[in-house]
Amino acid sequence: MIDHDVIIVGGGLAGSRAALEIAQSDPGLSVALVAKTHPIRSHSVAAQGGIAATLKNVDATDSWEAHAFDTVKGSDYLADQDAVEILTQEAPDVVIDLEHMGVLFSRLPDGRIAQRAFGGHSHNRTCYAADKTGHAILHELVSNLRRYGVTIYDEWYVQRLILEERQVKGVVMYRILDGHLAVVRAKAVMFATGGYGRVYNTTSNDFASTGDGLSMTALAGLPLEDMEFVQFHPTGLYPVGVLISEAVRGEGAYLINSEGRRFMEDYAPSRMELAPRDITSRAITCEIRAGRGIHPDGSAGGPFVHLDLRHMGKEKIMSRVPFCWEEAHRLVGVDAIREPIPVRPTVHYSMGGIPVNVDGQVRSSADDLVEGFFAAGEAACVSVHGANRLGSNSLLECVVYGKRTGAAIARYVRNRKLPAINESPYLDETRRQIQSLLDQDGPLRIAQLRQAYQDCMTEYCGVFRSESIMREGITRLKELQQQYNQIRLDDKGSLWNTEIIEALELRSLMIVGEIILTSALNRQESRGSHAREDFPNRDDGNFLKHTLAYYSPAGIDIRYKPVTITRFQPQERKY
Ligand code: FUM
Repeated sequence: MIDHDVIIVGGGLAGSRAALEIAQSDPGLSVALVAKTHPIRSHSVAAQGGIAATLKNVDATDSWEAHAFDTVKGSDYLADQDAVEILTQEAPDVVIDLEHMGVLFSRLPDGRIAQRAFGGHSHNRTCYAADKTGHAILHELVSNLRRYGVTIYDEWYVQRLILEERQVKGVVMYRILDGHLAVVRAKAVMFATGGYGRVYNTTSNDFASTGDGLSMTALAGLPLEDMEFVQFHPTGLYPVGVLISEAVRGEGAYLINSEGRRFMEDYAPSRMELAPRDITSRAITCEIRAGRGIHPDGSAGGPFVHLDLRHMGKEKIMSRVPFCWEEAHRLVGVDAIREPIPVRPTVHYSMGGIPVNVDGQVRSSADDLVEGFFAAGEAACVSVHGANRLGSNSLLECVVYGKRTGAAIARYVRNRKLPAINESPYLDETRRQIQSLLDQDGPLRIAQLRQAYQDCMTEYCGVFRSESIMREGITRLKELQQQYNQIRLDDKGSLWNTEIIEALELRSLMIVGEIILTSALNRQESRGSHAREDFPNRDDGNFLKHTLAYYSPAGIDIRYKPVTITRFQPQERKY
């Protein structure tokens, strides 16, 4: 058995920021970080457009209160406002911390951090490093982890959370290199395992975004919160789905339909292309449904719209959004200086996740907390994004709540002993699970079943939803789940067996997908990213509340939890 005071699962921004906070506040603590990829390959590295904070470098009239209001309105009033106040008040300090760590932000001519416009934000407050902001931040954090002595287990897959007597005691993990299994015991376990974009067939997310932390939490009998709220980013590059940053629209690009019109004037006339993502994604989907999408040959009626940067000019495109230019050029052969980029919505972000309080401690119900268990970042739901996240608030959440959760963990473990664990049953069961995957001899390849599952989620739980469609989806999804034991792994060895990891990830996708669909079916209203064609209005009387979904193989139990409202009463949401 391996012992650490703290084990953090996930090497992205939230996990790395938390690890750093713990190691800095008490250098005597043994802090370990485990990740299924190398930490700098975590999905945070792909974040492009920026991190919001009211530094007031560009707009002196900005304030944390304005940032809080924009965030709550953007969330369609589902965000917990105490958590939003912390997020927006602490934002300037955490960004300056990052600057002091050495993060290479883009600058104004006078040397201060540059800030740009972003969707749903009423002021130019998004700090950025061109369109590679996640890359710039994550590299500094990870190099600091090494400086402060954090132990890194990279390319280990955490397979199980150990929860006994209402206390999390550790994890079981699998070394991808050689199949070695280990139980890690800790005074506190933190999940910062990111999102689940790969539940869908078109996503901006990394291949590793398979919702493993969410499914392990659900399998341990703990709830997941607000999983029906899936963010579709409006501008996924067609047909591959990778992100073309909102920064491109923040810098002035237009969305154009087959008639050559800036159609956002019909949907959000005061914000146009910088409306929040739920509204913009629905607008694009409506244009495509109405036959005003575009085909690759330029004719009308096709599956995408155009993102037009041409009027911005080469100098601005290449200095502010060079990576987006490169993606379009490299992946679909479009030179955005001369031609518009084909885009359509792509799954981007999970507003829901593991319910936590404002110190990152995991909730087992509306009123109770789990001992020894913490979470932050996209995997967690604190909830600062409610039903729809504003762009550039997610890096901010990772850093504010990563730091806060790290500080809370450092205090929590101070007077605690390592828990007792009998490791043999955990190792035996995990070994059996892997062996039975290797022994299965069905006709299906993992990729076939995964594709069918992703297609099912995309078709039955997309931008627009309805009861009949979702019920069909659940039936289809159950049929696909039955086929899991018919997959065959070709690699029967233990050395770098990535098929085992893919099979375990597929199990995660299946559990998370079922929770998303069931939570969505139960929310009979439209709010933020959850758009029901059969319940087109927001219904504060019945649904101004958070969903808590408890998974079991026999079915999912849905309960609810109140929303915290401090200063902004729900209003009609117009842009
Ligand atoms: O469009 C983007 O650059 C994404 C930013 C975000 O999701 O916060």
